[in-house]
Amino acid sequence: MKVVGINASHRRESNSGLMLSTALEICSAKGFEVEQIDLWDKEISYCVVCGLCGKKYGCSQDDDVMDILDKLAEADAILVATPTYFGGISGRLKSLFDRTLPLRRNKMMLSGKIGAAFAVGGSRNGGQEYTIQQIHAWMLIHEMAVVGDKKTAHFGGICTARNAGDALKDEVGMQTVINTAENLCARLSSLARG
Ligand SMILES: Cc1cc2nc3c(=O)[nH]c(=O)nc-3n(C[C@H](O)[C@H](O)[C@H](O)COP(=O)(O)O)c2cc1C
Repeated sequence: MKVVGINASHRRESNSGLMLSTALEICSAKGFEVEQIDLWDKEISYCVVCGLCGKKYGCSQDDDVMDILDKLAEADAILVATPTYFGGISGRLKSLFDRTLPLRRNKMMLSGKIGAAFAVGGSRNGGQEYTIQQIHAWMLIHEMAVVGDKKTAHFGGICTARNAGDALKDEVGMQTVINTAENLCARLSSLARG
């Protein structure tokens, strides 16, 4: 089974990337195939509402998005990690989410996949929970099954960190990342057992 992670930070070195790679390492250690997709170096245009994806699985725009959608379609679980920007997800992630319409319009290609969310903000209460709920909304609109971290923050992985790398100093936050990844692996394993 495969776990695909999206790192929605806009910068090369990032807290979102660290949180995601920590979660993916846990999934890998449990025997799952993993892949990390970093959005900071991807070309992601806005949805232009051309309607082509209502006719077939595809997009009129020639950028990096269809490659990402193909990887999401093949995944059994999807992790999304984002910085908190003005109390919500990063702009790149919002653009990508809007561009996932071909997956929904063509037989709900993400339906039944397991999803989990991670958010980091520079402030202790800077909107990370709202940000995670925005990711959960995207997952639910795709009919995915959402998991949280169960015993710590409840909603998923939440860190407080401003400078890149500081997330690792937030021990309580990193525990929510670890718990979310372990919870997701447990759910995937029970699916594999049938
Ligand atoms: C445009 C912008 C908006 C931000 N808005 C918030 C915010 O609303 N709440 C918050 O806690 N931190 C906010 N921050 C701080 C970032 O969330 C924080 O630096 C985070 O660690 C960045 O994640 P990254 O390292 O994955 O890029 C903002 C930063 C930027 C650049």
